[in-house]
Amino acid sequence: MSFQVIAHRGASGYAPENTAAAFRAALTLGADAIETDLRLSKDGRIVLMHDATVDRTTDGSGRVEELTAAELKSLDAGAWFDPAYRGERVLFLEEALALVDRRVPLVLEIKESARVPHLLSELKPALRRTSSSVVISSFAQQTLLLAREHLPSLPLAWLIPRGRFTAAEAIAQARPLGVQQLCPHALEVDAQWVRTAQEAGYAVRAWGIPGHSPAEMVRAMRHLVRCGASGATADFPDVLRSVVTLSANLPAG
Ligand code: G3P
Ligand code: CA
Repeated sequence: MSFQVIAHRGASGYAPENTAAAFRAALTLGADAIETDLRLSKDGRIVLMHDATVDRTTDGSGRVEELTAAELKSLDAGAWFDPAYRGERVLFLEEALALVDRRVPLVLEIKESARVPHLLSELKPALRRTSSSVVISSFAQQTLLLAREHLPSLPLAWLIPRGRFTAAEAIAQARPLGVQQLCPHALEVDAQWVRTAQEAGYAVRAWGIPGHSPAEMVRAMRHLVRCGASGATADFPDVLRSVVTLSANLPAG
C-alpha cells in the first residue's frame, strides 16, 4: 500500500519552516504533499505561521493577528534557522499556492483563533482561484465543523490531540465532524489502532514524528509504516521516503 510522505511546514528540517525555501526543499526532495499552518494577519491576509506570535521564527515580536501583512513581510523569517537563510520572508497563502502550482497536494492546518470564521471566509476565494488539491486539518473540532460549512467539497483531517485516545474513542468523536482522515500522534498508534480506523472508513496519517535524534526519528517512521498508516508529516521527508522504500526489506521487529 502506498504511504504519503508529507513535508511538515515544508521540509522544515532543512529550511526555515513555512517559508518559500522550505516549500522548495520539499518539492526538490520529492515529498508527496506539503503541510503548513494558517493564521490571519491584522488586515485579513492568510499567512503561513505555526506559532501565535512571530517571536520564534522571525526577527520580530508580537502576535501574528496584531501585525499587518506589510509588517509581517518586513520580517526576516530565515536567519533564526541558519544565517544562510537571512532575507527569507514570511510566506502568504497566495504565494505558497503559486509556488507549488498544483505539483503536490497541500494540507492546510487552521490554527486555533477567535478569527477562524474570518480566516475561512478569506480561504474560500483563495482556493477558488487555484486548482491545487487541498486537505483542511485542525486539532479543534469546532474549526472542522466550520470548515465543513464554508468549504463543503474539501476533505477534512482531524489532528487528534495527544492523550492516548483509543481508535474507538477517536472514531466516536470524528463521526459528527464529517472528516475523512484521522491523524493520531506517531507515538500513540499501533497496527490495531490503524486497522480499526481503516475498517471504519478513515485514512490514518500520523503527526509528531520525534526528531530528538536520528535513531528515534527513524524508529518512529518504521513503526508507522509497519502499522499500515497511510501517511505522515515529517520534517525530513527524504528520510521518511527512504524508510518507506526500505521497509519492505527490513527485518521485522
Ligand atoms: O501534521 C500535523 C502537525 O503539523 C500538527 O502539529 O504543532 O506541528 O502544527 P504542529
Ligand atoms: Ca501544523
